[in-house]
Amino acid sequence: MNHSFTCPQCTTKVKVDTTTLSCLKCKTKFPVTNGIYQFVPDKNTETWDHYWKRVPVYDDVLDLLRKIMNLQLRRYLNKRLTSGSATLEPGGGSAYVSALLAEKGMNSYALDYTSQPLRLAQQFGSKAVLVQGDMFKMPFPDAQFDLTFNNSTLEHLPNPLDALKEMARVTKPGKYVFVGVPFTYGPLSIYKLKKSSFKGAWDGTTYDRQGLKKLFQEAGLEIVGSRTFFFRCFIGVLGKKLG
Ligand SMILES: C[S@@+](CC[C@H](N)C(=O)[O-])C[C@H]1O[C@@H](n2cnc3c(N)ncnc32)[C@H](O)[C@@H]1O
Ligand SMILES: [Zn+2]
Repeated sequence: MNHSFTCPQCTTKVKVDTTTLSCLKCKTKFPVTNGIYQFVPDKNTETWDHYWKRVPVYDDVLDLLRKIMNLQLRRYLNKRLTSGSATLEPGGGSAYVSALLAEKGMNSYALDYTSQPLRLAQQFGSKAVLVQGDMFKMPFPDAQFDLTFNNSTLEHLPNPLDALKEMARVTKPGKYVFVGVPFTYGPLSIYKLKKSSFKGAWDGTTYDRQGLKKLFQEAGLEIVGSRTFFFRCFIGVLGKKLG
């Protein structure tokens, strides 16, 4: 597969071979480690590593719930795609939805800051292209993807608007951006009452429908639709990049 990567340092095209990526301008080299395109090193990512440590039984239950949710999401997102569409899931962790979309013939990319979930994705046989990078400065040219999406990610970020603008940048004009976040008027809000939620569970900001739509408008995206999903735990907005 021919990948179009750009240097996160200087935004110039990056030459790709099986073991190294090298920027054609500033000559920075980025490793390809066990099939993961590594634009950021692992040392900055301790914050999230605890989240991806597996806890047996407890994780099995969470995995089952995630599976149900991810299948719901694939069904919804798939309606906007045709076979071979290019999709990107930034901050997607092990990016289960990307794996499901790849199974349906999409050209799926998953990006995360930390390698642990990307290795997990490899373990469960994900066919998505796995990229270790910063979602605020993604190693992709403008207008690459037919769909850029994530769920349960933006609520953890200090500056979600910047992340959404970066997601819009890499999306093709006339194509789609989807974000799901915990819904203020749903069951996940209960965790707001606790000082900190149990390990690995959701622990971030909630959004109501208007709040999430406003974020899309501020990012310059046209609203296509919005919906709650997974038993009203999450609210999602689908936006379109203006042509
Ligand atoms: C709560 S997890 C969500 C994962 C996935 N969406 C899910 O539902 O399983 C948030 C993810 O965002 C990633 N993340 C946080 N900041 C990031 C950044 N600046 N760039 C890329 N990924 C980031 C973390 O590494 C973590 O895997
Ligand atoms: Zn460069």
